[in-house]
Amino acid sequence: MPIIAPSLLSANFLNLQKDCELLNESEADWFHLDVMDGSFVPNISFGLPVIEHIRKATNKICDVHLMIVEPAKYAEAFKKAGADILTVHYEACTHLHRNLQQIKSLGMRTGVALNPHTPVQLLADILHDIDLVCLMSVNPGFGGQQFIPHTLVKIRQLKQMIEERNLHTHIEIDGGVTLQNAKSILDAGADVLVAGNTVFKAEDPIATIAALKAL
Ligand code: DX5
Ligand code: ZN
Repeated sequence: MPIIAPSLLSANFLNLQKDCELLNESEADWFHLDVMDGSFVPNISFGLPVIEHIRKATNKICDVHLMIVEPAKYAEAFKKAGADILTVHYEACTHLHRNLQQIKSLGMRTGVALNPHTPVQLLADILHDIDLVCLMSVNPGFGGQQFIPHTLVKIRQLKQMIEERNLHTHIEIDGGVTLQNAKSILDAGADVLVAGNTVFKAEDPIATIAALKAL
C-alpha cells in the first residue's frame, strides 16, 4: 500500500486546525509540509511557527520539504519545530553528505529532493545515506501544476539503483499527482504520493485519500 502524504500547501490557512483534524481522521500517513524561502523557489509559503502548531495538532509523521537555500542553518530549528523527516534539495546543497549527517545526528530521517532536470544518477554515491528521495514532478514553488511525464522514467531508474544496492529508500513523488495518474506512478516504483490540490480541492478529501491509498 502506498504512503499518502497530503500537502498542506493547498489547505485552508485560515483554518489549519480543521484541515489537520481532517487528515487525522483520514487514511493519510504523513503530513507533507512545504517550506519556501522566495530564493530557492519563486514563492514564499510558511515556516517554523506554523509547523510548530501543526506538530501539536497531529501524531502523524511530519514530512518537511525544504525549498530553501542553506538548509543546514535551519535543520536544528526544524527538528525542534517537530519535523520527523527533513528533505533538502540536492540543488541547494554543496556539501550534501555533511548536510545529511547533520539531519541524522539531530534524530530525523533524511530526504533529498531532485528538481525535474536533475538526474537520479547523481545520487549514486550518497543513496545509502538517504531515507527518502523526493522526485519533483513539477518545478517546485507552487501547487496545482501539471505532472511532468518524464518523471516516470526517473522513478524506474531510481528504483533500479535502490534495488541493486539492497536499500529500502522511499521514492516520493511530489507535484501534479492525481487519481488518474497515481496508478502509473506507483507501477513505476514510487511508494510515497504527495497530493495537494487533488486532496484539498476535492469535494470529499477523506474519500480521495482513501482512493489513493487503495491503489
Ligand atoms: C510544490 C510542492 C508540492 C505541492 C504539490 O513545490 O513541493 O508539495 O504542494 O501540490 P500539488 O499536489 O497540487 O501539485
Ligand atoms: Zn513538496
